[in-house]
Amino acid sequence: MRRFSSTIWRRTGLDRHISDTQTRQQPLKKRPATATVLFLFILSAAVFISASWINLSSFYVTNVTEKAIIISQENRRSAMRVEIPLNCSAGNMTQTCPVNYPTSFETEDRDPSLNSTCPDYFRWIHEDLRPFKSTGITRDMVERAMRTAHFRVVIVKGRVYVEKYKKSIQTRDVFTFRGILQLLRRYPGRLPDLEMMFDCDDRPVIRSRDYRGPNATAPPPLFRYCGDRWNLDIVFPDWSFWGWAEINIKPWNSILKELKEGNGRQKWMERGPYAYWKGNPLVAETRKDLLKCNVSGEQDWNARLFVQAQAIGKAASDFIQEELKMEYVYDYMFHLFNEYAKLLKLEAKVPEGAVEFCSETMACPANGIEKRLMMESLVKGSSITSPCTMPPPYDPRALGAFVKRKANSIKQVETWERRYWDSLDKQE
Ligand SMILES: *[C@@H]1O[C@H](CO)[C@@H](O)[C@H](O)[C@H]1NC(C)=O
Ligand SMILES: *[C@@H]1O[C@H](CO)[C@@H](O)[C@H](O)[C@H]1NC(C)=O
Ligand SMILES: *[C@@H]1O[C@H](CO)[C@@H](O)[C@H](O)[C@H]1NC(C)=O
Ligand SMILES: *[C@@H]1O[C@H](CO)[C@@H](O)[C@H](O)[C@H]1NC(C)=O
Ligand SMILES: *[C@@H]1O[C@H](CO)[C@@H](O)[C@H](O)[C@H]1NC(C)=O
Ligand SMILES: *[C@@H]1O[C@H](CO)[C@@H](O)[C@H](O)[C@H]1NC(C)=O
Repeated sequence: MRRFSSTIWRRTGLDRHISDTQTRQQPLKKRPATATVLFLFILSAAVFISASWINLSSFYVTNVTEKAIIISQENRRSAMRVEIPLNCSAGNMTQTCPVNYPTSFETEDRDPSLNSTCPDYFRWIHEDLRPFKSTGITRDMVERAMRTAHFRVVIVKGRVYVEKYKKSIQTRDVFTFRGILQLLRRYPGRLPDLEMMFDCDDRPVIRSRDYRGPNATAPPPLFRYCGDRWNLDIVFPDWSFWGWAEINIKPWNSILKELKEGNGRQKWMERGPYAYWKGNPLVAETRKDLLKCNVSGEQDWNARLFVQAQAIGKAASDFIQEELKMEYVYDYMFHLFNEYAKLLKLEAKVPEGAVEFCSETMACPANGIEKRLMMESLVKGSSITSPCTMPPPYDPRALGAFVKRKANSIKQVETWERRYWDSLDKQE
């Protein structure tokens, strides 16, 4: 299972793995996951736990009387940053979006000594879109993806419209729209017109075996947060990067800052070896089992397990800090959209009944933690650098080797588990 998430200890990690090995219903070999790699990092990592939550006084609050667009004087090298403050002054903002968004921005030349190639995991964009390369994406294909979709997103001339079909789990949908809107603020005028169907549930559903063979129909393009080698769903960053209101998870850019602070205090290699897990134990038996591994008066297996506490692990490898920084999450979406739009054989049309979304209609009427998260993750102006450069597709052999390596790591862990269970059997 491959998931693009900031909350790396989620299902892709430990408990999915455990439930797969115990029930044996799922094929064991899984598509290698960035998330799994990250999880292993966390598992083997020392984690400095701190319960500090948000410093309430530090929230960015826009002065709503400011001009909607200010061309900043802060002239960084050659480009000017277009600032896009939130304009909540226009009456009932749950209804209308301001008309005067910027439609272009300047970027400065990149420092030629810096590597501007996107991280390697961007190559999955090529893999995810490959099934549509030969046929392109027709309207019929998009409509067929509606079967399980929670909503359709339509982008026309830099504005975002959403047609909702059903309610998603928690606020996943809201924070996903949120992410798309921030992308538009970051790269105004640079997003193509498109229509996409989005499914907010975890499990991929577009089975590749249903679209094979000489008479097969073309698969429907469906975006979701997870993908694997058995399915053709297109992976999109999950909502957690913009905050997760229900369990008090802050936007990723805030968490990254804290991680940096944590890492500054103590070097990775100097930390104690603790495994850290936080989550909801009620959704699976295996998770309840997992909690038995917590430190207690009798045992300490260096595991620290929490039930949706507000604590957050303040540690991460350089990989997480560098290759998963927020700019890259936006660049991933940017390239995914642009490459997807190139395949579209339809003219994006705003459906009747679709609602226009903008940062104002979402953030101005919100309140409580949702508002806080939205203000915190607001992209306040356009980027002054262009998106990173897409790497070429994986070389099939390199990809094969990568898949094999990850499958072997999973097998290795399974062997350890089996040994553990065997040793228990012998004791009985
Ligand atoms: C907001 O901006 C206006 C105009 O620049 C200024 O007069 C006002 O004092 C500001 N308000 C606050 C709360 O900063
Ligand atoms: C804004 O519009 C919504 C929906 O029509 C309505 O429920 C709400 O009371 C309005 N708010 C204000 C401040 O007018
Ligand atoms: C805020 O948006 C409204 C509606 O588009 C517009 O009339 C108003 O001029 C904007 N305010 C500022 C300060 O630009
Ligand atoms: C630039 O970064 C990409 C992705 O991390 C890497 O594959 C490539 O080898 C790098 N190129 C140079 C010249 O360092
Ligand atoms: C494909 O369609 C052709 C013509 O309708 C038919 O003769 C053939 O049996 C079909 N093949 C498969 C695998 O369904
Ligand atoms: C696990 O142990 C830690 C440290 O004693 C404790 O703070 C935490 O609440 C425990 N977790 C659970 C689920 O009991």
